[in-house]
Amino acid sequence: MKNNSEKKYIGTLSQTELLKLYAKHVNKPKVQIFKQFGFAVIPGERSGIYLKTLGGSKKGQPPMEIINCRSSGGVFNLGHRHPEIVNELKDALNGGLDLGDHMLLSEQRALLGRQLAELLPGDLDKTTFGVSGGEAIDSAIKFSRAYTKRKGCISAIGGYHGHTGFALLTGDPDFKDTFLWNNPDFMQVPFGNLDAMEKAINEDVACVILEGIPATGGVLIAPEGYFPGVRELCDENGVMLILDEVQSGLGRTGEFWSFDGGLYPNDKIVPDFVVCGKGMSSGIYPLSTCSYKSKIEKSIFKEDPFIHISTTGGSDLGCAVASKMLEIQSDPDFLAHVKKLGESFEKGLRKIQYDHSDLIKEVRGRGLMWGIEFYEEIDGQLNMLHCINEGVLLNYCGNNKATDIIMPPLIITQEQLTDVLDRISNAITRLSKLKKS
Ligand SMILES: Cc1ncc(COP(=O)(O)O)c(C=O)c1O
Repeated sequence: MKNNSEKKYIGTLSQTELLKLYAKHVNKPKVQIFKQFGFAVIPGERSGIYLKTLGGSKKGQPPMEIINCRSSGGVFNLGHRHPEIVNELKDALNGGLDLGDHMLLSEQRALLGRQLAELLPGDLDKTTFGVSGGEAIDSAIKFSRAYTKRKGCISAIGGYHGHTGFALLTGDPDFKDTFLWNNPDFMQVPFGNLDAMEKAINEDVACVILEGIPATGGVLIAPEGYFPGVRELCDENGVMLILDEVQSGLGRTGEFWSFDGGLYPNDKIVPDFVVCGKGMSSGIYPLSTCSYKSKIEKSIFKEDPFIHISTTGGSDLGCAVASKMLEIQSDPDFLAHVKKLGESFEKGLRKIQYDHSDLIKEVRGRGLMWGIEFYEEIDGQLNMLHCINEGVLLNYCGNNKATDIIMPPLIITQEQLTDVLDRISNAITRLSKLKKS
């Protein structure tokens, strides 16, 4: 019998076998759509900013090496299999940790809770843990309702907070209708429009929930003063403000939090809730967090401290990994790196826009989170395919298909970023030529 270190995990199936098996046992329409697009980026070997596909783009061709500029929405902020994170998990296992018991207290949860409180502004010093972003969003909405004794929730049109219960209710109808999931207490307003928010908000509303930079909505950047204005409206109406930092937090903008100077240096607010997911895992061990102000705690837990639990959320191993990630990503040198590369990325993308002003309507973003909006919706999809052929994985935004979102791992070097820009430029040049031919 083989020992564990000899066991093979990657490449046990050919690409053809995998597609068949996936269609049979996991999701057939997904396989069909990938085939229709003419590609199947199935991650095989992976390391740093790169991943190798399991098979070639066409039958008989060798695997492709791809730069992951999707980063799974921030899951791979530290790239794939960051050595310090992998070692942290191994050390935590060797050091005696396992999942822990959610009903009992946990040393690791206490330590991570303190670390988050130290990184968060104001009196955001309590944290409840989960596994997925949607679960942590559900917690924030639940807790807002318990605290305010109100039911209303206002979110942004095109925003995305997950596919679970309350999180799903905040989203666009495309995601909800199939599941007959709707609720008149949940309203959507245009993002970045303070007047619309003012009209919608009232004393029946428990919470306003916003992403710092709506990602699925098309990497939208609110006008300066929007978030402070929303904070003020929430205060005037006794409404809780939930900031979803699942994609835009943890250093992505070059500041640790998007709401704390990451959008505009002077726009700094203290939300009532801050939710993190994706990058909390470093792509190694899932964990999500819902941090909130101490004053909120007693309305939820005083009568029954066990009223909200998650068996696998806030596992001891997950907390150890997340703690290491926070240590790395909150380092001022790390954030300065993101800021510096962000400036270089912006310059490069603006040059691409200038060169293809007939195709590209706008580029926008912060730090290492950028969107390229095309005039025509189809070009967002076509550019994604051309970029994959150039060896760059990015994707069009689910709720704004004319926009491609680009989120390279935050550990990317200047040289690698220049390479990414060259490849994106080549892809758009090819797209432009094809459209003209
Ligand atoms: C901004 C944002 N919030 C929440 C979520 C939900 O996270 P999860 O898929 O881990 O439930 C996502 C997922 O894409 C997201 O992008």
